[in-house]
Amino acid sequence: MSLQVFLETLDSLERQAKEQFAGVVDANDLERLRVEFLGAKNGLLKAAQKQLGAVPVADKPAAGKRFNEVREAIESLLEETSNRLGGLPVAKLTGPLPDCTLPGLPPHLGHLHPITQTIELLKEIMGRLGFTVTEGPEVEDIWHNFVALNIPDDHVARDPADNFYLQPIDKKKSDEAPALLRSQTSTVQIRVMETTKPPIRIISLGRVYRPDEADATHYPMFHQMEGLWVDQHVTMAQLKSVLRMFATSYLGGDVQIRFRPSFFPFTEPSVEVDFFWNGHWMEFGGAGMVDPNVLTSVGIDPDRYSGFAFGLGVERLCMRRFGITDIRDLYRNDVRFLRQF
Ligand code: PHE
Repeated sequence: MSLQVFLETLDSLERQAKEQFAGVVDANDLERLRVEFLGAKNGLLKAAQKQLGAVPVADKPAAGKRFNEVREAIESLLEETSNRLGGLPVAKLTGPLPDCTLPGLPPHLGHLHPITQTIELLKEIMGRLGFTVTEGPEVEDIWHNFVALNIPDDHVARDPADNFYLQPIDKKKSDEAPALLRSQTSTVQIRVMETTKPPIRIISLGRVYRPDEADATHYPMFHQMEGLWVDQHVTMAQLKSVLRMFATSYLGGDVQIRFRPSFFPFTEPSVEVDFFWNGHWMEFGGAGMVDPNVLTSVGIDPDRYSGFAFGLGVERLCMRRFGITDIRDLYRNDVRFLRQF
């Protein structure tokens, strides 16, 4: 092909492009022209480029120069036209534009884990009963987990087989920090009483850790809701009515509550707390009147103040409410399971 003919082809291509891009009215038109002129496989420019191969070698520099000019001119036409139409992203247009009037796909939203939902609800119910929420650390020292809670040195609760100690226990320096993952949220009772003067009315919700083999009802990590009310003249009757109001709000209906005598070093007397719900008595945790030794250990005068404390199992509360029968399901993180709640 002579240079002459090749240049004429390019001229006509440029003219054609100018005319056609000027007539573009929408994105579909624009895309059609982009493919027609600049398409990488069958575009008109591509075809011209192939003809360039047939131009005599001596004329190639001139032919190539003109080819590049025309290509740039058409690319600018594309860009200008796109700007005229409001800046459509030319490069990304492949295929016809989507129909914006079709119903959209709903965004995929996550939701709160059943334990988190339970915690939120517990806070709300206890908030209505006048309890404020506090938190304490999960890594605790011996003082807050045991000593201040009246749990003596040789008590079984301190056994290394029942606790996640983070460092070897030195008997002689047994009060030193930080030593274990807390085994109960009762630690927060101490932390609050150390820094707050009565009246105190708090709950604390959080994780606790015990080296239990996981089965349908045990897991080495679980949550507790600790409650503490310290003031003048706080009685066991108040403990019972607070827990009953709580149970009625949480489980619904007129839930009966039962105390069974028990023992905790930090409460005296101590009880296990059962709720009568759906035809069964079920245990939900422990409670009692704060032991005078505990009040003394945090500098509160046990002759002036009394208090009650309770600790309920959050997983248990959650499982009862949602009808979950295996605690491990809560922590397998199988979305097919979690999505149900
Ligand atoms: N901390 C006790 C436990 O983990 C529960 C409890 C809390 C008992 C407060 C009495 C008072 O078993």
